[in-house]
Amino acid sequence: MTDVNRRRLLIAGGALGAFGALGMASPARARSLWTWSPSDSVAGRGAGVDPDWVWDDEVDAIVAEVIERGQVPRVNDLLRNWVRNDQPLPDGLPAELRDWMEEARKLPSWADTEKLQDAVDFTRRKGLYTGVLYGLGSGLLSTAIPREARAVYYSKGGADMKDRVAKTAQLGYDVGDVYAYRPQGGMIATSVRTRLVHAAVRHLLPQSPGWSRTSGGQTVPISQADMMVTWHSLPTYVMGKLRDWRVPITETESEGFLHVWQVSAHMLGIRDEYIPATWAAANAQSRQVLDPIVDHTPEGAALTDALLGIIAEVDAGLTEPLINAFSRYIVGDRVGDLIGLDREPILQPVVGAAWPLVVAFREGLIPLPGVPSIAWTLEEALRKFVLLFMSEGRPIHLEIPDANRPF
Ligand code: HEM
Repeated sequence: MTDVNRRRLLIAGGALGAFGALGMASPARARSLWTWSPSDSVAGRGAGVDPDWVWDDEVDAIVAEVIERGQVPRVNDLLRNWVRNDQPLPDGLPAELRDWMEEARKLPSWADTEKLQDAVDFTRRKGLYTGVLYGLGSGLLSTAIPREARAVYYSKGGADMKDRVAKTAQLGYDVGDVYAYRPQGGMIATSVRTRLVHAAVRHLLPQSPGWSRTSGGQTVPISQADMMVTWHSLPTYVMGKLRDWRVPITETESEGFLHVWQVSAHMLGIRDEYIPATWAAANAQSRQVLDPIVDHTPEGAALTDALLGIIAEVDAGLTEPLINAFSRYIVGDRVGDLIGLDREPILQPVVGAAWPLVVAFREGLIPLPGVPSIAWTLEEALRKFVLLFMSEGRPIHLEIPDANRPF
């Protein structure tokens, strides 16, 4: 442990003691102390500063200026057609913003083209599972992440939650796109724009009475720690589930999948010293930052309703009890209870027994007669859901917000 880390630990330990004595600690607030070592990161070193006190300073300041000068509509207009990774930036952007974007669009020196291709191959082979896990699993999990749920609820996009939920799920899917980080792909443009959106949210949300009332003392949203929490609700969660389901995954596939998400973390503005270098490091960090903070919030409950509404609308043949049972199965009862998913005492054990058999059959591990018919109803419905909800090639239209959600 570095000196800085040790000192912070002592200071924070004292503060937590006082908090506990006053009986104020609530599960939503109870963050573990930051002890994760930067030597486990892709950078391999770092100051060890608690990422809850780190944001994205340079772009945060630039975007705040853009908002204050009333330039957001013009910037959004200019960026509307900037969608391909190899496209030059449009003329007319404020100079500072343009310079920052030119830097931000560069892939990190450690990006490895071969590993990125391995990730594409992996997603192509396992697309049904990853699609379901991003669209349903990560989507539902995000509603149990209090800071994310509240930020989304009180920001401009919160007024149309279905659209908002769909956009985040879509990003998970686009990461696995054939062209993701290649010149003709769109992930660089999407990540840089998302970074701009997050910077705008950091400027705007502190002006929202709803957000300020519920932020638990956080003064600026979307810290680097928050970014990592959400990151873990994507690849770390997805890989954990694939392992639980005993999906056969080669070392190359697993490394490729981690790599594309490491690159994505960097492109979304997460500092290299916080990005886990290995799955072991990712799991350790996730246990520290994600597991302790999942909780119920009214804002998260509203988001859960929106997500379940989308799934029902997709009408892939999933009945409500089946959606509930499968959702509980993939996020677990703890999160299921927190986000208010109905219990399905009869269907849930059936789904829990049937799904691993579908996986085993699809992966050629068992013969067909071993798979009960409900398993196929489920597989068919999920396949349709992935196809319709996470439809390939649907571009994400990201706009920099210039206001919070109106109430
Ligand atoms: C916007 C992805 C972390 C809160 C977005 C958008 C994407 C995205 C694709 C644009 C969609 C839109 O405009 O609606 C991600 C990813 C993250 C991450 C991949 C981490 C790996 C976070 C965190 C928070 C957050 C940690 C809050 C604690 C928001 C908010 C918006 C947004 C409030 C704007 C919604 C609006 O008002 O339009 N994010 N995000 N995000 N994100 Fe994130």
